[in-house]
Amino acid sequence: MPATPPPPPVSEEERTRLRSRIKRLLKERDAVLVAHYYVDEDLQRLAEETGGCVADSLEMARFGNAHPARTLVVAGVRFMGETAKILNPEKRVLMPTLQAECSLDLGCPASLFIPFCDAHPDRQVVVYSNTSAEVKARADWVVTSSIAVKLIEHLKARGEKILWAPDRHLGTYIQHVTGADMLLWNATCVVHDEFKGQALAALKRQHPDAAVIAHPESPTAVLDLADVIGSTSQLIEAAKNLPQQKLIVATDRGIFYKMKQAAPGKILMAAPTAGEGATCESCAHCPWMAMNALANLAEVLETGTNEVHVEETVRVKALRATQRMLDFAASIRQKNHGD
Ligand code: 13P
Ligand code: SF4
Repeated sequence: MPATPPPPPVSEEERTRLRSRIKRLLKERDAVLVAHYYVDEDLQRLAEETGGCVADSLEMARFGNAHPARTLVVAGVRFMGETAKILNPEKRVLMPTLQAECSLDLGCPASLFIPFCDAHPDRQVVVYSNTSAEVKARADWVVTSSIAVKLIEHLKARGEKILWAPDRHLGTYIQHVTGADMLLWNATCVVHDEFKGQALAALKRQHPDAAVIAHPESPTAVLDLADVIGSTSQLIEAAKNLPQQKLIVATDRGIFYKMKQAAPGKILMAAPTAGEGATCESCAHCPWMAMNALANLAEVLETGTNEVHVEETVRVKALRATQRMLDFAASIRQKNHGD
């Protein structure tokens, strides 16, 4: 868990002042705000109102890459800022805080991961986007949860064996769906790992008319009870399209802002993060995403501090697997449009 606490709440008056300051600075600095669904509602709203994006990690990468602004301000966690820099070396990439880590990234240090890969040269190395630039530089493929199953199916059809890192739950889920030969790294997300299967089953019994939608970083016991499993964007789509009026949501509660917009009138319930008598640490909200706030966003736009840098030789190597991800995602989109 991070040593830095989330920024203190600010008054309504101060929020209004910060919002208009940020809007002015975004224009003056030729900057666009690229935000993840898990960050504070104020930041999501600002991204919407200023022509930025609020998206899953794949769409954040694609949006930043396609946008003409000279500065990308990434409100999320470090790997998202690094991905933006890997893809856009000519752009300035700023983040409200450079302290926003991710337990998956922290759980897969390059110093341990590289020798692990070297010990398994017969496997294609597929890493989740939630990793450092150094880890991406050692990978054959980068992938996000929205296309992970499709990519592994594709590699399996080519007869490849896979080395998967870092999320153990997502790896187990993909292995189960695709039947691919996968060697799994053992790290988890501090938020999703805390969802509890038994407590979820009890909540389902209380609400038999509710659908369960879950992010695949959740444990198998939770995914076994889910009606829909998908990336953050896919869960929002599901909330909109499912016939059920009640939804139990197993992902970070930051997503509720966009989910309510997509599925107005539906009842959204947070999946339980603690069983009888137990306590949760992250309580369905990523402590690193929570470090992004109006005040530090305004500050970086004003001063240009918190710029993301990726060492050039690492960046060039990491670009290969990251660009493959975007190209593979584009090929899926093309195929879907052609169908
Ligand atoms: P998505 O790619 O689904 O947005 O997931 C990113 C993430 O960090 C989930 O915890
Ligand atoms: Fe990482 Fe989990 Fe936070 Fe996503 S929610 S950024 S996987 S720690």
